[in-house]
Amino acid sequence: DYEKGVEELKSKIKSFPDFPKKGILFWDIFSALSDGNTCRLLQNLLVQTVRDRYPDVEAIVGLESRGFLFSFSLAAELGLGCIPVRKKGKLPGDIVSYKYDLEYGSDILEIQNTVRPGLKCLIVDDLIATGGSLNAAVHLLKTCGANIAGCLAVIELVSLKGRSNIPDGINVHSLIKYD
Ligand code: PRP
Ligand code: MG
Repeated sequence: DYEKGVEELKSKIKSFPDFPKKGILFWDIFSALSDGNTCRLLQNLLVQTVRDRYPDVEAIVGLESRGFLFSFSLAAELGLGCIPVRKKGKLPGDIVSYKYDLEYGSDILEIQNTVRPGLKCLIVDDLIATGGSLNAAVHLLKTCGANIAGCLAVIELVSLKGRSNIPDGINVHSLIKYD
């Protein structure tokens, strides 16, 4: 069943201490995906999660780059739109940008301003750390006038309290939680 599947997935995901910098414990989703059965398990868990929790979404919004793994596979399986949020300078046409602070410096994420107002969107990414990336995606979609069904991540690093950086009223769900 679902919970057993989540436990099995959890057992496949490796962490790397002091990567990419000293003091950071890096949870590596790709280490699990070299195995075909784990790919299928994760895809099935995500599809089931969307069907159960977000049954009326119309588009899946994925965050560059690891979020793209899941936005396209979900969109293709469910017959929904797939919309990218990309790092600055990668998307052509009429763009909306959102700048946000990092520990050192800042980052900019962008979306094409072609999202239909009211479109019911689910934002997906591999991992929630500080929540800064998902918060940026929420702001971008709000600027476009989209209707945000929620945020879905495979992994959540609970002790970093990323949820508190995502606006109130946005439903946030993660499959696997680490301290
Ligand atoms: C990582 C991860 C999430 C984000 C989480 O992406 O894939 O997208 O950081 O961190 P946050 O909650 O503090 O925003 P990264 O920017 O390293 O790029 P990548 O997906 O291209 O590897
Ligand atoms: Mg990422």
